[in-house]
Amino acid sequence: MTTAAATPNPSACALPWWKQTTVYQVYPRSFCDTNGDGIGDLRGVLSKLDVLAELGVETLWLTPFFDSPGRDLGYDVRDYRKIGAESGTFADLVELRQELSRRGMRLVFDLVLNHTSDQHPWFQQALLCPKSPERDYYLFRKGKGPRGDKPPNNWRSMIGPSGWQRDPTSGDYYFTSFLPFQPDLNHRNPAVTRNMLSIVRFFLEQGADGLRLDIFNALLKDPSFADNPFSFRPLPSEENPDGFFQQNLYTINHKDSIEFARTLRAFVDSVPEPEQPDGTLPRPGKERFLVGEVFGPPKLLRSYLGMPDDGLNLVFLFKTLRTPFSAEAFFDLIEEYEREFPAPLLPTWVLGNHDKPRYIERLGNDARRAKVLSTLQLCARGVPFVYQGEEIGMTNLDLPADSALDPLSNMYGFVPTELRRLLRKKGILLNRDECRTPMQWSMDENAGFAPPGTRPFLPVHPGFPFCNVEAQRKDPTSLFQHYKRLFALRRAFAALHGGSLALWHKTSVPKGVLAFTRQHEAQTVFVLLHFADDEAEVRLPFACEPLYSTHGSPLLPPSRRLRLRPFEAVLLTPIPGSLGTFAP
Ligand code: NOJ
Repeated sequence: MTTAAATPNPSACALPWWKQTTVYQVYPRSFCDTNGDGIGDLRGVLSKLDVLAELGVETLWLTPFFDSPGRDLGYDVRDYRKIGAESGTFADLVELRQELSRRGMRLVFDLVLNHTSDQHPWFQQALLCPKSPERDYYLFRKGKGPRGDKPPNNWRSMIGPSGWQRDPTSGDYYFTSFLPFQPDLNHRNPAVTRNMLSIVRFFLEQGADGLRLDIFNALLKDPSFADNPFSFRPLPSEENPDGFFQQNLYTINHKDSIEFARTLRAFVDSVPEPEQPDGTLPRPGKERFLVGEVFGPPKLLRSYLGMPDDGLNLVFLFKTLRTPFSAEAFFDLIEEYEREFPAPLLPTWVLGNHDKPRYIERLGNDARRAKVLSTLQLCARGVPFVYQGEEIGMTNLDLPADSALDPLSNMYGFVPTELRRLLRKKGILLNRDECRTPMQWSMDENAGFAPPGTRPFLPVHPGFPFCNVEAQRKDPTSLFQHYKRLFALRRAFAALHGGSLALWHKTSVPKGVLAFTRQHEAQTVFVLLHFADDEAEVRLPFACEPLYSTHGSPLLPPSRRLRLRPFEAVLLTPIPGSLGTFAP
């Protein structure tokens, strides 16, 4: 599969760890169930650490596992200081931290700042007692109209309908940016800021090396509560959150949310790291990272990173999800990210998550194409986020809308199945259960996700006998082995985890080929990606040694040429002393 003759440059790259890392997203609920309740748990994550370490991922991001009624499967938090009974205990978390630390791995928590569950004691108190201070923890407003039974303004939730919900007792309305049972917190109330920052401190004390910030760009709304203007856009996208015929002028990406990124960063940097599980002394601050879930054009998202870098450390960039599979489109995307996120800033590379359709479906479930795209993801400059199951090519599962656990699906229950499938191909997932099916570990019952005789909380994808970790670990040509090889190369080569990136000019490679150079000090890696189903010959600037090919050994005829096969991705390094003949 691989020929790695060249020795990695031993000079370690001086960047902070989080700039060099690779993140693997675990959706604990569907990762591994150890207690037989059909729901994945922290001990399940623990039990799979060896496989994850073998795969070579460096940082785990765990989606919320705190106490929640579970109506949005953890993103509706009832108690931020308590672990959900179905997920495990603090003792499990401590053990998880210890075991991660033993393997040199890091842990990222998911922090929901924008809203709580409507079962949170603050909200319960706010409903019960309109005069209580908790009432102002949320966005309550009087309704309009003579009877006060019209929403206070036209603000929509991010998912379509009006974001205003009526409290039947007082007749007032409260605002929800997402689902109706997730009331938005009032981040203009200093008591809310104080409370939420103390939760941030608590998360850091529990050993979080980083925080993923849920819908961070909805945090602060305009205090005028003025109507949002009309927009012609029917549907929002990752790049433009305007939609449902509304421009989100006063609700999304408000300048105060962007400013809050700096407050949060300063706070996180001021909290000393807790003692390490191995008893070593706390390290100074500034070692943790914040990654924001934000939507908008890359130019705007960049502003969350501060002036120039005193805000969030990273923002998710979802433009990859809608970029067509072509060398030209990804050339333009890399060019844009390099322009908008120049060093010391870094882009992120995301192909999917627990809300998005699994990317391999968009590629016709073709592992060759998936290898090309994941090579780009893991070799371009930036922090890659890999969603569990991507490394074995798990695909979406068609599930009936009427039995969905995802409340979003129920809200859009009227959309016919064919249209849902079509939307999924376009990157819109109405039933998020379809990308959250249990992780496929083996050919055993329940794909090894849960003990025999257990009924998993979501059905296992019937393709699991052919698509599972155990089988792919044994197959040198599998997607799992491909990811494993790339994680290892990325870790070994400072050029890949910390170097600069230069795109080769479009005219220096044949159509269908995208090539770029990664460079750190004297170390150079060339990455060549062939997006087409034909053969292509590339002239190399130097005589090269192969590091990796998705097709076995790369075809390197003499005279500085590389013959790329259909959908082949190749990594090369120049042979020292070989002189270049042209600058790509
Ligand atoms: C974004 C999360 O990724 C999603 O799963 C959740 O439903 C919403 N935010 C609301 O918290």
